[in-house]
Amino acid sequence: MTIEILKKELEERYSASGSQIQFYFSPGRVNLIGEHTDYNGGYVFPCALSFGTYLAVRQIDEPLIRMSTTNFDFQAEIPIGSSYEKIGDEWVNYPLGVVSELTKRGVKIPGLEMLFSGNIPNKSGLSSSASIELVTAVALNELLGLGISRIDLVKIGRAAENHFVGVNCGIMDQFAVGMGKKDHAIYLNCDTLDYELVPIKLEGYKLVIANTNKPRGLADSKYNERVAECQTAVKMLSDGKKITLLAQLNMNDFNSLQHHITDEVIKRRARHVISENDRTFEAVAVLKTGDLLRFGQLMNDSHDSLRDDYEVTGIELDTLVAESRKIPGVIGSRMTGAGFGGCTVSLVKEESIDRMIREVGESYLSITNLKAEFYVAEIGNGAQKIMC
Ligand code: GLA
Repeated sequence: MTIEILKKELEERYSASGSQIQFYFSPGRVNLIGEHTDYNGGYVFPCALSFGTYLAVRQIDEPLIRMSTTNFDFQAEIPIGSSYEKIGDEWVNYPLGVVSELTKRGVKIPGLEMLFSGNIPNKSGLSSSASIELVTAVALNELLGLGISRIDLVKIGRAAENHFVGVNCGIMDQFAVGMGKKDHAIYLNCDTLDYELVPIKLEGYKLVIANTNKPRGLADSKYNERVAECQTAVKMLSDGKKITLLAQLNMNDFNSLQHHITDEVIKRRARHVISENDRTFEAVAVLKTGDLLRFGQLMNDSHDSLRDDYEVTGIELDTLVAESRKIPGVIGSRMTGAGFGGCTVSLVKEESIDRMIREVGESYLSITNLKAEFYVAEIGNGAQKIMC
């Protein structure tokens, strides 16, 4: 979708005239390692992608917010108010959640016409929701001259998801799409929000994303269930050592404290989070030394822990990962994002990419009856205004 098409589309959909149309873009993200660690105060290592969500927006004189998208039929016309209600499970809850959070912070929202257009595969675990939240937050911040810092916009995006949409997500996705930098991954401590931009130089390898195309039905409720299980683990472990977040422990601590966890499922959930946090720390260190083989091994270990201890994979993700690992030149493969469907990310030698796409695509189809899609990841910049 080019800017000209988006502009024409907005003018055709809405008859109202208003201020000059402005354009914004926010990317999706892929997480390289550090999964389900963010809401436990741990490390993550995501990067922004080159595909994402475009927004054409203008101010109007009527006291209404019109929202539509080229991706779905549902459109909304919402009277400006002092508070907002969630609209079923519709996509508008993401931008509306941002409007609601800004309103709570005292921002006077004017009449608006907003047209979104995304090229992130929907519900694929590549953060189409954080992308639409951040494109909204960044656009309104600029358009209304609010002067909110980028980190606070990231927090507003997460608050929209937590309080309005109702998913108790951590901060990784909004941070990655808000703060991403071309050809870098973000090594983020989700407790302190200290971060480092690490150059991704893969010397003959590429990151290949594979989409299971599995509909992610109960993903949000299962996600919230995992968040609650981690809180239970914190309570139980605190009988041995007072902690507030699982990532305050490393695997040595866990091994000596795990007998305080009386429930086997909760024990496995905690083991995943704590081992994943240790792995992420190591992964960034080895990547900096150029040890891609070890980085790939840690990606593999991450997936296995998400499959066996955290139980967020499922037949589709496990099949893509298992089939990918059979291809010579694939040195690491894991699920990325929340899980329960969505995508995998693999580290693949350039000359093996075509073979991987062909052979994994075929075996995945014959095992699951679903057609996978593959994308060679390009690491892009975070949310921004598009200058025309
Ligand atoms: C989703 C959430 C993130 C994070 C990941 C799992 O993408 O939005 O906050 O918890 O799952 O790592």
